[in-house]
Amino acid sequence: MTMGRLDGICAVVTGAGSGLGRAIVERFTAEGAHVVALDRSAAKLAKLAADLGDLVTTVTGDVTSYADNVRACETAVARQGRLDSFVANAGLWDFGRSLADSDPDDLQAGFDELFAVNVKALVLGAKAALPALTTSRGSVICTLSNAAFYPVGGGPLYVASKHAGVGLVRQLAYELAPEVRVNAVAPGGMATDLRGPASMGLDATSIESTIPIREYVKSTTALHLDVRPEDYVGAYVLLAARDESSTVTGTVIDVSSFGIPRRPTES
Ligand SMILES: NC(=O)c1ccc[n+]([C@@H]2O[C@H](COP(=O)([O-])OP(=O)(O)OC[C@H]3O[C@@H](n4cnc5c(N)ncnc54)[C@H](O)[C@@H]3O)[C@@H](O)[C@H]2O)c1
Repeated sequence: MTMGRLDGICAVVTGAGSGLGRAIVERFTAEGAHVVALDRSAAKLAKLAADLGDLVTTVTGDVTSYADNVRACETAVARQGRLDSFVANAGLWDFGRSLADSDPDDLQAGFDELFAVNVKALVLGAKAALPALTTSRGSVICTLSNAAFYPVGGGPLYVASKHAGVGLVRQLAYELAPEVRVNAVAPGGMATDLRGPASMGLDATSIESTIPIREYVKSTTALHLDVRPEDYVGAYVLLAARDESSTVTGTVIDVSSFGIPRRPTES
């Protein structure tokens, strides 16, 4: 049997039911990890469990609830005796709704709902995971976005929430050192089931059914790639494999390539 890069580790992955989270679970388990998958969708988790069997343990819950984050971390320790990585990945998008086009009531309610998932849940997840990660000398890995560095990847709510994640990663990296490393990965666009706040009426539709996101990414980014969620997961493996990233904390790995303009001569 070949050695996996994550042999023997146990990770919690939030938003594990579809899209990038599901791709992270598939890759982590293929590399030898056991994953506790936390998602609010019981149906998506049932499919994940049917596909991956004993390699995953599923927990249905809401990342904006501290108690649900604790339940996921306690499940990891009960099942595997340890927790090595907490991957805070669940997120909501604002579908690029601009300030001018937003109703004030939508802005007020949408801000609270979106920031609860994209920012508050990172704080609560890190807090819930801290005792077990301190014991294992593990790490927190957050999913941010090209919108953590650049405009246009969303409207003001989404872009502000992902920028906030950068500050949180830096502060927690300082506070939790030297026992626990805290980093993030910033992927670019991908066709997923990514939804928006219900309070803005954006919960019934997904990014993949609303815009031609694969074509958009392929035609606007420097590398011309037809990107799938699994193309972004290598950086998560790097950060979870403590032998490969033992010196890394407080960093956001930008795997989006959004910072490099497309060359004007290319079609
Ligand atoms: N899709 C893109 O273009 C894109 C680009 C950059 C960054 N991202 C980020 O990637 C991450 C994953 O998103 P995705 O694109 O894979 O979308 P996705 O909707 O396919 O996956 C997100 C999962 O999170 C779950 N979830 C949402 N709110 C939850 C909550 N309150 N509690 C528990 N689970 C909850 C959903 O049920 C879903 O299974 C997000 O943080 C998103 O901001 C996505």
